[in-house]
Amino acid sequence: MWATVTEATPNQSAEETLTEVPEHLLARSKARRAALSGDGDASAETTPATTESTSPEPAKSATAATQPAATPEKAEPEPTPPWVEAAESRKKVPVWVVPVLVALPIFFILYAWTLGEPAAEEGPLAAGGEVYGISCSGCHGGSGGGGSGPALSGGAVVETFARPVDQVTWVALGSTGFRDAGESSYGDTSKPIVGGMPGQAESMGAEDLMAVVLHERAEFGGEAFDADLWEDGFEETVTAMVPDHAEEYIAVLEEWKANPPV
Ligand code: HEC
Repeated sequence: MWATVTEATPNQSAEETLTEVPEHLLARSKARRAALSGDGDASAETTPATTESTSPEPAKSATAATQPAATPEKAEPEPTPPWVEAAESRKKVPVWVVPVLVALPIFFILYAWTLGEPAAEEGPLAAGGEVYGISCSGCHGGSGGGGSGPALSGGAVVETFARPVDQVTWVALGSTGFRDAGESSYGDTSKPIVGGMPGQAESMGAEDLMAVVLHERAEFGGEAFDADLWEDGFEETVTAMVPDHAEEYIAVLEEWKANPPV
């Protein structure tokens, strides 16, 4: 039945042989055949048949034909695209972070320094410790344990010099200065002068010299500043032993009496 209809239509004799076939069915079948075979002539005839068959199929076949050809070619040359490489090699930390991180601790140090300045002010005791480390520790040891010079720790220095002024004149003159002054021994224990202790009077200011004596007595003798003890025979002794610098030493002691050294 379907075959006879399709054969009859091209010859225009369908009306004579098969009159029972309605006109609209012939038109639809013609349109469907045209759509299946690829001809677009009959597409204008019947809208439901053509829109269902013709329009989706070429679209599907077109995408099916292009996709397999295009995707394998593109997939191979892009293991690491340039924009991915650029994103990976780009610095993750912004440039301005570095100076900010460097400046922050400096700012806080300066801030803390300005706050702590009054407390950190150096007193004679601390100054004496610094002087000792620079000028004395080489011979007497960092903690006064002795070396080429005798030990000062364990109360030895306070034992040798009961009065601070006697230590001041000893440190100012040293072994040679004491000998020059006609002495053969030094200190309350009358230790014989062996030699080797350099006098500091000409190389060290009064404040530093007295500060290092203060430091040694405190650090190695456990003796706190005592104005009365320091005053004991001070003026007479320095005037007699170190006349050139006596006034300076007396002035420092006056200052210490007014503001006890810490
Ligand atoms: C070059 C080494 C040397 C240096 C530096 C030195 N001393 Fe001496 N010191 C000696 C010697 C050696 C003696 C013993 C001197 C002697 O017997 O004639 C001595 C003795 C002393 C004594 C007596 C100690 C005791 O109980 O017998 C005191 C205090 C002292 N020195 C303090 C100082 C101070 C303070 C300084 C730093 C300003 C200093 N010395 C730097 C070598 C040194």
